[in-house]
Amino acid sequence: MEERGSAPLGRLIEPLVSLRGVAKRFGERRAVDGVDLDVPAGACFGLLGPNGAGKTTTLRMVYGVTRPTAGRVHVFGLDVAREPRQVRSRLGVTLQENALIESLSPEDNLRVFGRFHLLRGAELERRVGELVDFLDLRSHAKVPVRHLSGGFQRRLAIALSLMNRPELLILDEPTTGLDPAIRQAVWARVRELRATGTTVLLTTHYMDEAERLCDDVAIFANGRIESQGAPRTLIARHLAAEALELDCGAIDEEKLFGEGGGSIRRMRAGNRLIVYASDVAPLLERVHRFDESGGCRAVVRPTNLEDVFLLLTGTRIGEADA
Ligand SMILES: Nc1ncnc2c1ncn2[C@@H]1O[C@H](COP(=O)(O)OP(=O)(O)OP(=O)(O)O)[C@@H](O)[C@H]1O
Ligand SMILES: [Mg+2]
Repeated sequence: MEERGSAPLGRLIEPLVSLRGVAKRFGERRAVDGVDLDVPAGACFGLLGPNGAGKTTTLRMVYGVTRPTAGRVHVFGLDVAREPRQVRSRLGVTLQENALIESLSPEDNLRVFGRFHLLRGAELERRVGELVDFLDLRSHAKVPVRHLSGGFQRRLAIALSLMNRPELLILDEPTTGLDPAIRQAVWARVRELRATGTTVLLTTHYMDEAERLCDDVAIFANGRIESQGAPRTLIARHLAAEALELDCGAIDEEKLFGEGGGSIRRMRAGNRLIVYASDVAPLLERVHRFDESGGCRAVVRPTNLEDVFLLLTGTRIGEADA
């Protein structure tokens, strides 16, 4: 038996969130279909996947409002099915759809939620002020929510989920619909929270967001995890390092790639053809020779998480699209 002192660190620290064989059915529909997942304490972990892949349902099982049909969910080492209240008191959730009191201002929404968390008097006011500043809500702190832009409403929803200083923050699509500046501001706040020890479990449809914020991601498709790991690791595991994007209209792929081209990994996205290789320079040369009229547009870039997402979630990529 391995001595405890010599075990790798990762094995000694219990994950903050742990799912084993977790499934959820709605009638015949398998929304989540046998998920194993570990979120280490202090990490930012991203659930990715197409619409309907099972991300929100998985989150709901983590914070204990949806009961799994099968499997076990542990959070903080506690069985969520047995101790949902203890678990919920230590986490914060920002839902996919904002749940705000529209007639009240951000400050008053925060006060209501603070009282729910048993804060009172000066302590409540201090926390409301902290959160108004933390999410940059000061300029609109007294304006009824129904008059606020989407960006303010989203930041308020995140502020509410931080009221109880959660150890685990769950964010379901925190930045969907936000402008680039507000997205950056939200990212900065998530990074700050993580730096002070908060574990973050989020979903996103933005692969750049996942690459920038998340230590690890799990890519869902049809209720199952297709692959999980650090974004860089997933990219290296599934695809070559370089991507060549071609926009040549109705291109004759056979002619372009010639003999042996069948082994070149590529994906079609409308008119664009994306080709993956460890070095795309020889391919680019071929394109230039092939493209006598000069009508092709070619871009070389590093392979990214979006490529992996498309590969794993159903967009056809081929060994020659065979
Ligand atoms: N309460 C419910 N009753 C019946 N079906 C449900 C229920 N909740 C979710 N589903 C179904 O479960 C599947 C997974 O839904 P879920 O909301 O988890 O997807 P998601 O990955 O969060 O998608 P999105 O990216 O669109 O938010 C979908 O097919 C959805 O229609
Ligand atoms: Mg969802």
